[in-house]
Amino acid sequence: MEIPARVRIVEVGPRDGLQNEKQVVPTETKVELIERLADAGLAAIEATSFVSPKWVPQMGDNAEVMARIRRRAGVAYPVLTPNLKGFEAALAAGAEEVAVFGAASESFSQKNINCSIAESLERFRPVTEAAQAAGVRVRGYVSCVLGCPYEGPIAPAQVAAVAATLADMGCYEVSLGDTIGVGTPRATQRMLEAVTRRVPVERLAGHYHDTYGMAAANIYASLELGVAVFDASVGGLGGCPYAAGASGNVATEDVVWLMNGLGIETGVELERLVDTAAWISRALGREPASRVARALLAKRAAAA
Ligand code: HMG
Ligand code: MG
Repeated sequence: MEIPARVRIVEVGPRDGLQNEKQVVPTETKVELIERLADAGLAAIEATSFVSPKWVPQMGDNAEVMARIRRRAGVAYPVLTPNLKGFEAALAAGAEEVAVFGAASESFSQKNINCSIAESLERFRPVTEAAQAAGVRVRGYVSCVLGCPYEGPIAPAQVAAVAATLADMGCYEVSLGDTIGVGTPRATQRMLEAVTRRVPVERLAGHYHDTYGMAAANIYASLELGVAVFDASVGGLGGCPYAAGASGNVATEDVVWLMNGLGIETGVELERLVDTAAWISRALGREPASRVARALLAKRAAAA
């Protein structure tokens, strides 16, 4: 299969990137991060999540973030909604796109959203129905598609079954999460081969965490099978509060560098993105995790 000519990047830094931060990140920093990402050309920016603030305190300012961002034409600001309560709060905050999030692993489902996979899917159904009635788009996530922190390897058929249920429920796209970043390219392709037997590749996205440094390789392996949407996090921010040791998503800069090298369009300006990675990393008191950001910043410093 020919690799895609254009790739859509879903920036998840403000949500997946920040949800695990131990320090309180001020709302204004979150809002500025979202604005800077839009300035860099990201057209889908996952802004926050409407989950229980007892479970994820960092996202407790969700409605305020939504109220303060300057919505731009052509930019989507999806938010996570685990249940109807979250959906209603998201709708009241003006969300036009939401995401439900399930898992291919029973243990992870219990730890992350306090219910079984089957219960979670039943919980998502009224969310997708309410969203449809309100004209809100719904994306679906499947976590632990290449391994679970509690159960180890996950059968590709199990991933395919959950992804197919989400797609049938009306999720316009299903994002396949390697939550703990254990995937390698061939395993990624085996998983995708199983999923694409049930869900067309045009409706799939790759959501790869970079814990073992394999995310770019897994993205390339996914491109070879026609996947053209990838989630990424500026500066490689993040981790999952219910997956100990999970690092951030693949850095958005690394994805843009890879796509630029392959001649694949993303619409994202790499230099502005690197500025944003440097800015948010400084705000959080650390270096960008992204190798591309670090290399380009070092090059700039040497030239100055
Ligand atoms: P629960 O305790 O079973 O929920 O949690 P409950 O329905 O029994 O309600 C308990 C309390 O929470 C009640 O309040 C509810 O009102 C409240 P109380 O009466 O005790 O005061 N509540 C809520 N409050 C605000 N917003 C809501 C909401 N729902 C209930 N939406 C629940 C179940 C799903 C709520 C909880 O487990 C939860 O919030 N989990 C979220 C965990 C999370 O955000 N994880 C990270 C995101 S997933 C991820 O990172 C993976 C991903 O990136 C892909 C990948 O990498 O794999 C997407
Ligand atoms: Mg994630």
